[in-house]
Amino acid sequence: MATPKTISDVTLRLAHPRDATTIAHMSKRLIEVGLPWSWTPERVAMHIRHRESVVLTARVGGELAGFAIMQFSDTTAHLDLLAVDPTYERLGIGRCLVEWLEETAVTAGTFVIALEVRAANVGARWFYSRLGYRKVRLITGYYCRVENAVQMVRDLRVIRARMLPNNSFERQ
Ligand SMILES: CC(C)(COP(=O)(O)OP(=O)(O)OC[C@H]1O[C@@H](n2cnc3c(N)ncnc32)[C@H](O)[C@@H]1OP(=O)(O)O)[C@@H](O)C(=O)NCCC(=O)NCCS
Repeated sequence: MATPKTISDVTLRLAHPRDATTIAHMSKRLIEVGLPWSWTPERVAMHIRHRESVVLTARVGGELAGFAIMQFSDTTAHLDLLAVDPTYERLGIGRCLVEWLEETAVTAGTFVIALEVRAANVGARWFYSRLGYRKVRLITGYYCRVENAVQMVRDLRVIRARMLPNNSFERQ
């Protein structure tokens, strides 16, 4: 794998059905460690096809360096999965994936993103805090009754205000 020199070497692109197996294996290796494998290639492929899900990939020189899966409903979106290959960590790829999804959510009229993260995953909890997500509650036994989750949310109205030129909409 070629390490990008800058974040501009990274391309964000919607996943293709042929990415499903690679994404599923990244989930198993980087996210679902120690848990039964639930994000199988078939499940990921279903989300790639589903019109209310977005499966976003980050690529470096054609290699899949990271991905995110988000499901949309009327007023909220749920970030199901996010991972960046360790080769590419701390380069801003995770932030790029999340910010792209947030802007898409705002454009779609969705104002809250919610997610769960393993309570013991301190690095990811720091990452989400850094991006403006706040802890809502602890969910006991969320992961197969063996591990707790921290639920975090971000109110996207801040981004919406930023996307409006000179807040023109608010002034009308
Ligand atoms: C969590 C994860 C997605 C972060 O991706 P990344 O591309 O390395 O993160 P970024 O480089 O975009 O970091 C964005 C900000 O979060 C902070 N951050 C990222 N990882 C961090 C860590 N382990 N500890 C503390 N802060 C962290 C960075 O400092 C950065 O802020 P700054 O650049 O303004 O200082 C990645 O480490 C990962 O895939 N981990 C394994 C899977 C996982 O835990 N997924 C999330 C739960 S589903």
